[in-house]
Amino acid sequence: MNRLAHYTRWLVLCLLSSSVLAASPDGVVAVSHPAAAAAGARLLAQGGNAIDVAAAVQFALNVVEPQSSGIGGGGFMLIHLAKTNETFIVDSRERAPAQASADMFAPDGLPMPFPLGSTSGLAVGVPGTVRGVDTALRRWGNKKLADTLAPAIELAERGFRVNRLLAADIANDGGRTQIHPETAAIFRPGGVPLAEGDWLMQPDLAKTLKRIAAKGPDAFYRGQLARAIVKAQQRTRSELGEAGKGRMTLFDLAQYQVAIREPLIGHYRGWTLAGMPPPSSGGLTMLQMLKMLERFPLGDAAQGYGFGSPKTLHAMIEVMRLAFADRVVWIGDDDAATVPQQGLLHPDYLAMRAALIQADRRMETPQAGDPLPWDSSTAVRPKPSRTLQESPHTTHFSIVDRWGNVVSYTSTIEFTWGSGITVPGYGFLLNNELTDFNFLPSADAATGNPGANDVEPHKRPRSSMAPMLLFKDGKPVAAYGSPGGATIINSVLNVTLNLIDHGMSMQQAIDAPRLSVTHAAGKVSCEGGQDFMQPRFGIAAQDTLRVLGHVGLGEAGTDGCQETIGSVQAVVVDLATGEHRGAADPRREGTVIRVKSRGAKIDATTSIHLQSKQSIP
Ligand code: GLY
Repeated sequence: MNRLAHYTRWLVLCLLSSSVLAASPDGVVAVSHPAAAAAGARLLAQGGNAIDVAAAVQFALNVVEPQSSGIGGGGFMLIHLAKTNETFIVDSRERAPAQASADMFAPDGLPMPFPLGSTSGLAVGVPGTVRGVDTALRRWGNKKLADTLAPAIELAERGFRVNRLLAADIANDGGRTQIHPETAAIFRPGGVPLAEGDWLMQPDLAKTLKRIAAKGPDAFYRGQLARAIVKAQQRTRSELGEAGKGRMTLFDLAQYQVAIREPLIGHYRGWTLAGMPPPSSGGLTMLQMLKMLERFPLGDAAQGYGFGSPKTLHAMIEVMRLAFADRVVWIGDDDAATVPQQGLLHPDYLAMRAALIQADRRMETPQAGDPLPWDSSTAVRPKPSRTLQESPHTTHFSIVDRWGNVVSYTSTIEFTWGSGITVPGYGFLLNNELTDFNFLPSADAATGNPGANDVEPHKRPRSSMAPMLLFKDGKPVAAYGSPGGATIINSVLNVTLNLIDHGMSMQQAIDAPRLSVTHAAGKVSCEGGQDFMQPRFGIAAQDTLRVLGHVGLGEAGTDGCQETIGSVQAVVVDLATGEHRGAADPRREGTVIRVKSRGAKIDATTSIHLQSKQSIP
C-alpha cells in the first residue's frame, strides 16, 4: 500500500475510533473522487480553512480526475467568508491570447470541424487555475501553496487505482488520448488503455507540482514550464496545418490575471441564491428560469404539480427553452461586450417571456427576447451565436470548514481530456476552452452586433459553469454545482427545485432523476435507468409530455428517460443545529468526508466519517 493510501487509512480508521465529539461544527468536503476528497480532509485536519481545502482538492483532482480539470485549465471558485459575511468569486477562467482573432476557428469562412479544432493548439486558452488558486490562498487561505500541493504530489508520485469513470473515459475517448503521444503514454501505456483497478503513477506531473510548490505560481507562468506550454500549444492536426497552431505567447502567460467578481444575487420563494455572473451564463440563465417558474406552484400536488408530474415537467421544459434562447443571443464575457443582465432579469421582461408558455401544448420554438427596453446598460442586439459542442465533463466540489467559510468550486479543461495535448515532460493536459467561443464570428457593424461570444484577444469564452450558494435569512445553507457543459445549469436548477419546491433533503435532491433542455428547439433529455434515481419520471408522465408535443422522449408507452446528467457535490449548513453535512453524487464516485474537531483544536482526535446519506434542513 502506498504512503498516501496508508495515511488515508490511518486517518479514517484511527480517527473514526475517537469517542470525543466536536464542540464546534465539522469541516466537510464533497468531491467527485475519494482520493481528492481525502486530500481535502487532510488539509482540514491540519487546520486549513475552506480555501486551503479547495486548493488541495483541485490539485488532487488534476491527478486522479485529469480528464476533467487541472492546472492546464480554469474555473470559478465561489467563496463565502463567515467572518465578514462576504461572498465573491475568484474567476480563473482561461483567456484568449493577445493574437487571437474572431475568425481563427473559421479561416476560410467555414467553421473548422470540431474534432480537429478542439484537439489542436489553437483551442488552448491561457490557463488560470494556478494563478486563481494561489490568489485565493494568499488573500484568504491559512496555508502555503506548497502545503496544498503536498497530497497531489504524493498521489502523482506514488500512484492510485484507476476508477471506473477514468477507465470509461479512456475507453470512450473519441480518440482524444491517442492523438498526441505524451497523452497516450500516460493513459495507454504500450498502446493498452488503462482499465479500472490499474495503478497509475504520473512522475512528470509530480515533478511539475513540486516545481510549483518550490517556486510558486511564476514557475508555471514564466520560465521553462511556460516555454514548454507555448511549444506544446503549437501542436496542430495535420488536416489543419498552420491554421491549427495555438497563438499563445510567453507574454500571454506572464500577463494572465484572475478576476475577483461579485456574485449574481437572485431570490426564489424566500431563498437567496448567489451564482456566477458573466463570463458564465450559469447564474443568469438559472435565475431567469427560477423567476419564470415562480409563477407555477411546483410543489403543490393538490394542483397537479409536485415532483415528476407532467405539469411540473412541462413548466420546466418551457422555461429552459426560453432561457436558453436568450442565453445563446445575449450572454458572453461582460468585460468585453456588455450583457444586458438587468433586462434579462427584469420582472416585467420575464413576465412577458413566461406568458408565452401554454398549459395545453408545447410552444413553438421561441426566439430570444429583447430585454433592452428593461436595461439601462449600453448593450446592443447581438445575433444568435452557436457553440459547437459542450462537453459533459468538468468537475464540481463543495467545502464548508468549521468556521463556516464555504467554497463552491467548478473547474474544467473544457472537453473530456481537454485538447488532448499533454505538455511534454510536465505531465498535464492543456484545455481546449477557446472552443466555448463562437466558431463563426457574429459581430456585424451594420446591425451593431457586438459579437458577445466571438473570439477576441484576452477575452474569456462564455461558460455554463454554475457554482451556487443558497442562503436563508442571510446565512449560507448549501453550496452545490455540477459538471456537464450546458446541462450544468439545468442540473443546478433541478437540485434547487428539489430542495425548495419538493422539500427533499440534499442527498435526495441529488439522487433524484434530472431533466434538461439546452436549446430553444427543445429536445428533452431526462434521467432514469439507475436504481438510486428516485422517484422515477413515470411512463404515464412521459406520455403526457409527448401528447403536449415535447420531443426527444421516444415512442409512446416507452421509458424515454435513460440518460445520466451532471454530478452534483454539495455541503449543507443546518441553521437549527449549526451542523455541517455533505451530500455526494453516485453518478460519479462522489465522496463526502467530514472532519470533526475538538473545540478549536484539530489534532489526533479528528475523526472522519464517510457518509452516504445526508440531508438539508
Ligand atoms: N467548458 C465548460 C464550461 O465552461 O461551461
